[in-house]
Amino acid sequence: MGGAIARQLSKRNEVVIGSRDLERARDAARKVDRAIGLDYLGASEEAEVAVFAVPYEALGTASGLASALEGKPVVSAVNPLKLEGGLLRYGLEAGSAAEELAGLLPGSRVATAFNHVSSLFFEKGEPVAMDILVASDSKETFETVAGLVRSVPNLRPLYAGPLSEARVIERMTPLVLNLAKLNRTGSLTTRFVSVRGEE
Ligand SMILES: NC(=O)c1ccc[n+]([C@@H]2O[C@H](COP(=O)([O-])OP(=O)(O)OC[C@H]3O[C@@H](n4cnc5c(N)ncnc54)[C@H](OP(=O)(O)O)[C@@H]3O)[C@@H](O)[C@H]2O)c1
Repeated sequence: MGGAIARQLSKRNEVVIGSRDLERARDAARKVDRAIGLDYLGASEEAEVAVFAVPYEALGTASGLASALEGKPVVSAVNPLKLEGGLLRYGLEAGSAAEELAGLLPGSRVATAFNHVSSLFFEKGEPVAMDILVASDSKETFETVAGLVRSVPNLRPLYAGPLSEARVIERMTPLVLNLAKLNRTGSLTTRFVSVRGEE
């Protein structure tokens, strides 16, 4: 997912790809125009806005990056998921990965976004028109993340309210994935339609 987001963002932003392994980061960056690859710490130091796209089990990685990400907007795309009886289920009893990330990065401005959009929509070319739900405790953080989202053609950021709304947004991910599987639709994404049209 990180690579797919990086490819889309690189059209209008300078992108730094982070990895546990510097060589893997450089390899990933070679596939993205104008991107550079660094280890997680180097990428966190360079970034103006960071996007976290690691498995939920790897969230703890963030604690070593707290001072490098101090004061910066950090976007969580992380979903805690588990497979049960052939269907995906949300993996936490309470809270959300984004709120846990905020706890690990107390000096950062954590938001959640991109959670339930499959990387397949970002693989190549311009994505189809879709809404990206963004939750964050401050409208200022939302505006920064919204600018990043808008830098990708056809993506519309929608403010979902405070970071605690990540509990709802992350739980949409298994729903969206299960809907696609149960109804054999192929990958699905979200687009909300206004009765009054665009304002
Ligand atoms: N795939 C999607 O379509 C999609 C869509 C929306 C959201 N997401 C969310 O994005 C996150 C990543 O999903 P993904 O499909 O991209 O998963 P992935 O390919 O398994 O993992 C992404 C990267 O995380 C790093 N990583 C893995 N284990 C780690 C660890 N223990 N410590 C630190 N870094 C580790 C790895 O980078 P290095 O090996 O280079 O360090 C890996 O390339 C998940 O939380 C997922 O729910 C995924």
